Amino acid sequence: MIKIIILLSLLLIFAACENKKISKKLDGKELLELKCATCHDINMPPLISDDELAPPMMAVSFHVYNFVKPQDESQRATKAIEFVTDYIFNPSFEKSFCDKDSLKRYGLMPSQQYNLTTDEAKAISSYMFTYFTQETLAKVQKEKAAYNALAPGKKIAIKNSCLGCHGIDKRKVGPSFIDIAKKYKNDEDAMIDSIKNGSKEKWKNSNGAVMPTFKKINNQELEILSKWIMNVL
Ligand code: HEC
Ligand code: HEC
Repeated sequence: MIKIIILLSLLLIFAACENKKISKKLDGKELLELKCATCHDINMPPLISDDELAPPMMAVSFHVYNFVKPQDESQRATKAIEFVTDYIFNPSFEKSFCDKDSLKRYGLMPSQQYNLTTDEAKAISSYMFTYFTQETLAKVQKEKAAYNALAPGKKIAIKNSCLGCHGIDKRKVGPSFIDIAKKYKNDEDAMIDSIKNGSKEKWKNSNGAVMPTFKKINNQELEILSKWIMNVL
């Protein structure tokens, strides 16, 4: 009887472990960054480089999605996921959708069979066709265009996270840029000095928060940034 109880509890323990393994959700994005980005550029849109080791992930995804041949159009994504999951373990010149010249340049992808499990490959493949899509590309390009259209001073402010602590017309951790511009409208140099060297206890409702130093912003950028702050008035 005792033996049976021990056996049963062991079985339960193993079953619990098994369940845990299955229920752990694999993160396709994280895995892709870890297992594929060493060779495939995963930026969207990709950075162009002459000495890239493999086609950018966006190109791979677009190729596969467009070139697989599903029997029924509604199966396109499923087919694409199947193709990639298989290719990760069994790459071949015949299967690859890369054109001949590119294949010559890159050489064949080495099988990743010792680097990941089938479940991980599936998670990566599924993620690929949700992120590397025409829709994401269009969205990213729109955001880039919007950023490029911003005033140069605002770009510098975004790049240095100024807007995380300062609203244009609302105080956040620090005073609003409108209030700052009012205070310094006749003494821009003093304001530039505060950006470079930080500030504390000058604003009574800062509640102990301090303005960090920004020594890495060069003088030319400081000039542009400061003009932008002054112009918010
Ligand atoms: C050691 C470098 C390397 C790693 C790591 C790597 N690849 Fe590749 N991959 C290549 C090269 C080189 C090619 C182009 C030649 C070819 O098609 O086999 C390629 C091609 C592919 C293709 C076929 C492209 C097409 O357009 O038909 C797919 C799909 C692919 N890779 C997916 C992946 C995924 C997913 C991962 C991560 C699990 C990955 N690769 C990891 C080097 C790599
Ligand atoms: C981590 C939060 C934080 C960030 C990031 C930050 N600030 Fe501030 N800033 C503050 C706080 C808090 C104050 C008020 C400090 C005080 O009371 O003296 C302040 C004050 C200022 C002042 C007024 C200083 C004075 O002498 O009156 C200026 C100008 C300013 N910030 C500009 C900027 C710019 C430009 C950036 C980006 C390059 C930036 N801040 C980034 C928190 C921040």
